[in-house]
Amino acid sequence: MTIERTFSILKPDATRRNLTGAINAVLEKSGLRIIAQKRLHLSRAQAETFYAVHKERAFFNDLCDFMTSGPVVLQVLEGENAITAYRDVMGATNPENAEAGTIRKEFAESIEANSVHGSDSQENAATEMAYFFSGIELVG
Ligand code: CMP
Repeated sequence: MTIERTFSILKPDATRRNLTGAINAVLEKSGLRIIAQKRLHLSRAQAETFYAVHKERAFFNDLCDFMTSGPVVLQVLEGENAITAYRDVMGATNPENAEAGTIRKEFAESIEANSVHGSDSQENAATEMAYFFSGIELVG
């Protein structure tokens, strides 16, 4: 059994529609535990830095516009194989391809306004959580 931590964002489409509790109910039911949480309105610089890996992609500018269009909820999740477990419960990036019962199938509006972000590797999880949280804010 490998207990991991992963980084999660509830995106502006989720906060706008008051869905943060509904989404967290799904991920908590899947066995993941929220061990850190904060609500922020990202600056343009924070969004661009966070998504720097996508800066050459055609959707980068729109993605940063969207991620700064309203508040987000930043979270660290802990659980067994948390990175894969959270990606499984999030569903495919494009909600049209997401399986029934996943967060994106149930809640996402589009590939951009897809309600949640989750780290895709241990390395990125460590980088992403360190960008927004200090060690003493992670309360496992
Ligand atoms: P996320 O996991 O937050 O990582 C990058 C985000 O870019 C992704 O979720 C999508 O919401 C967003 N995005 C917007 N357009 C695209 C696209 N064409 N392909 C992939 N991701 C996209």
